[in-house]
Amino acid sequence: MSQRFSTDVLIIGGGAAGLATALHLADHARVTVLSKGDITSGSSHWAQGGIAAVTTPEDSFDAHIADTLDAGAGLCDERVVSMVVEEAPAVIKALVEWGVNFDQEANEYHLTREGGHSMRRVLHVADATGKAITRTLTDQVLDHKNIDLKNDRLAIDLINLSKLGRYPSRCAGAYVLNRTTGHVEVFQARFVILATGGASKVYLYTSNPDSSTGDGIAMAWRAGCRVANMEFNQFHPTCLYHPHAGSFLISEAVRGEGGILRLPDGSTFMHRYHDRAELAPRDVVARAIDNEMKRLGADCVFLDITHKSKSFILEHFPNIYERCLEFGIDISTDPIPVVPAAHYTCGGVLVDQHGRTDLANLYAIGEVSYSGLHGANRLASNSLLECLVYATTAARKIISQLDRYDEVPNLPHWDESKVTDSDESIVISHNWDELRRFMWDYVGIVRTDKRLRRALHRIDLLKQEVNEYYANYRISDDLIELRNLLHVAELIVRSASKRHESRGLHYNQDHPKLNPQAEDTIMFPGSMDHLDMLRPTGSTGH
Ligand code: FAD
Ligand code: SIN
Repeated sequence: MSQRFSTDVLIIGGGAAGLATALHLADHARVTVLSKGDITSGSSHWAQGGIAAVTTPEDSFDAHIADTLDAGAGLCDERVVSMVVEEAPAVIKALVEWGVNFDQEANEYHLTREGGHSMRRVLHVADATGKAITRTLTDQVLDHKNIDLKNDRLAIDLINLSKLGRYPSRCAGAYVLNRTTGHVEVFQARFVILATGGASKVYLYTSNPDSSTGDGIAMAWRAGCRVANMEFNQFHPTCLYHPHAGSFLISEAVRGEGGILRLPDGSTFMHRYHDRAELAPRDVVARAIDNEMKRLGADCVFLDITHKSKSFILEHFPNIYERCLEFGIDISTDPIPVVPAAHYTCGGVLVDQHGRTDLANLYAIGEVSYSGLHGANRLASNSLLECLVYATTAARKIISQLDRYDEVPNLPHWDESKVTDSDESIVISHNWDELRRFMWDYVGIVRTDKRLRRALHRIDLLKQEVNEYYANYRISDDLIELRNLLHVAELIVRSASKRHESRGLHYNQDHPKLNPQAEDTIMFPGSMDHLDMLRPTGSTGH
């Protein structure tokens, strides 16, 4: 019989969004935070460039708002953009009070610059801002007696009471795989917050850690929530190109501090694509690199920061310097070989300004959500900001409802009586590889209608296999993640197929023009053939 836990607020995800929300709630409620790995498992830990906020008199909310709207290519929700930009200084203050030491120069914050920003506005801790933020938040969380942080717990599915025949419809917890014991546990909660990050692992090449398998998006979708704008996947222009480097990111701040993109013959090219050249919005730079690589048949382009002194490079980019050196590249003397890679999921679970989803008592914050902040393309360093602002607004809303009485009924146990151990795990690893490769080839930086149709055809075939596998065999991490990736892939491809224009991050050669009318792509539950929500469940007994 599966183990059962009960808490006031269950937060699924231990990145910046999840940890900060836990801290805001913990003086008012019992909070459980689940993470499928350790502190390094989310993207937050790996964030490099920093966090955008207006902190100087030369800058203004209006300028930050205008840059965000400009990058978002007509799809941002202006009320949301204003709210997030205006809350940013308070978020920075909270981070500093928790203990984050942003870099300073002459007693002022040192602000770096990134693509799409009209001025320097990005606070950072050298080139490892995410590590500093997650370390600080984790220390605070571990110190708080009301927060129970559980690592190595992989949420499988949310529990929507109405899908169990109980009304009114609301989220009451989740089924979770304990990766240490291999058993499925039941977590009951009055409120559930998805803070599971993005889905960039759906692509073969990505800057993201392994956790970015879109679990929260897939779970919310299966539980009956709308999902928006999934066709907008951001590709970061500059990841290190080296056979053993995985996809190590070379921060946009390197271009912000003067780095120049060069072709293999040493010539520059970004001035041909945008008047801001290297500091054009990310979609423009990624498409330009993709185009030049295809035009020349080149494996990569080069990012050159060698004209800066070694001491400048070591002060601003110590982490990038060290990592490149491990691969024999001294960035103070050698240009860095770079290629684009999947980086950020702009779409996600549709939420309001408090992070509330369509399902009562279910919230989604951070990269898992679509709040309207990013529109068709995210402005650099606005995502950590979104995580931290929504941590505040979601916590406020939940605190205001804590005195309401919500009976949490005993939920059924996970039933494994009808499944057996698989002797064909190769099916899972093969399908993982196949999915990520065709998503890269057919649904990448440049799309066509034919490629999208091809991708959908393959998704249909994989769905049959994975469905059958899920129904008959005991679950594993890889199976759960593959099922989620498949669901997210379908959402991406179907959303992309609905958009008959090119806008922001979505570029389709068959529809190269921008439509005069800017519209979100909203996927309604029931509009796709759902994979089963839950395993058949057993009794509610203890
Ligand atoms: P994450 O930090 O990704 O955390 C997700 C958490 O959910 C993890 O703990 C994971 O284990 C857990 N999880 C996932 N699925 C499950 C499940 N099924 N069950 C249980 N737990 C689960 N943005 C910026 O603003 N500035 C930057 O400088 C910047 N640099 C970046 C550099 C890199 C290399 C990358 C990859 C991203 C960068 N970004 C940056 C983007 C930004 O880091 C992310 O968008 C943001 O950190 C997402 O935070 P999150 O809390 O939503 O999710
Ligand atoms: C980077 O440092 O280039 C990443 C910044 C971001 O994704 O916002």
